[in-house]
Amino acid sequence: MLHRITLIPGDGIGPEVTASARKIVDASGVKIEWDIVQAGAAVIEEYGTPLPDYVLDSIKKNKTALKGPVTTPVGKGFRSVNVTLRQTLNLYSNIRPVKTYEGVKSRYDNVDLVIFRENTEDLYAGIEHMVSGDIAESIKIISKKASDRIVRAAFDYARKHNRKKVTAVHKANIMKLSDGLFLKCAKNIADEYNDIEFEDVIVDAMSMKLVLNPENYDVLVMPNLYGDILSDMASGLVGGLGLMPGANIGEDGAVFEPAHGSAPDIAGQNKANPSAAILTAVMMLNHIGESEAAEKIEKALAETIREGLCLTEDLGGSAGTTEFTEEVIKKMSI
Ligand code: NAI
Repeated sequence: MLHRITLIPGDGIGPEVTASARKIVDASGVKIEWDIVQAGAAVIEEYGTPLPDYVLDSIKKNKTALKGPVTTPVGKGFRSVNVTLRQTLNLYSNIRPVKTYEGVKSRYDNVDLVIFRENTEDLYAGIEHMVSGDIAESIKIISKKASDRIVRAAFDYARKHNRKKVTAVHKANIMKLSDGLFLKCAKNIADEYNDIEFEDVIVDAMSMKLVLNPENYDVLVMPNLYGDILSDMASGLVGGLGLMPGANIGEDGAVFEPAHGSAPDIAGQNKANPSAAILTAVMMLNHIGESEAAEKIEKALAETIREGLCLTEDLGGSAGTTEFTEEVIKKMSI
């Protein structure tokens, strides 16, 4: 079957890691027609926006996209392309698996958890203003609709993947109304899934518990900001951002992108670890029903890392992005 998939290379290390993922997917034998479109600062001059309509139209038509990171200016300039994309296409579930791979030097060797981050509201709703010259205000939005659907997505995932427990993370002791509503929704939905254990943990305590005993956690679900922070932190438990894939899924489409950013410090130097992008492509292949190819790629990647002979700098090696990619392709054909 031929799949049509939108490819947004992004900027910084985006083009390097997405080229790697694409090459590996193509080598797996899955037939994909890539619709390559550009977003970010580079297209502003031509289109007057970092997220031109034709990019959105391509994703709406194809329903599936593989995306590299896009740089967002800090404290000024255009609104994040990533946040706008997730909100415009209503991609409400941000799913980030955190897993240890043998051969990666990290503090733990038995982490296997999945973070479900609400993707459309909370402090990311973009409602902020200056109250006066020296006071700024950001509004935190939490709705029943968005809370229900992200918690339900986490439980459905848990059931489908034989996971045992869902943990809801919040700060309802302080934000009694907003996080209080999220927690109430989580508890109500949990009642519908008696086969799966449920607990709730306050976000500050959760941070400590995750660092002390990450193996105690299975599926975690939380509002947007906590999900952003805890998922980067969790990636640190298993060897860093270079290994953490991600998916943004809604009812009308899915955009797959690694959790890491555009890493300007190493961009264009063939130094980026493409593993997160490759694992992101694995998630994408599972989503489009190409599980056999997905499994083949993940095995080859895991074996490359376990063997340790051809690793990128962040994993303690000296291989470039392209050499690492070739090594994974070689392992796929063994
Ligand atoms: P970052 O994730 O780009 O980099 C943080 C650190 O991790 C850097 O030292 C970088 O070299 C390293 N790193 C990240 N990915 C790596 C990889 N694949 N291989 C090896 N090392 C890797 O985070 P930062 O610096 O906060 O953000 C840079 C830009 O990316 C910002 O403009 C930010 O807004 C944007 N960003 C975009 C995202 C997206 O498009 N989804 C997500 C996160 C950030």
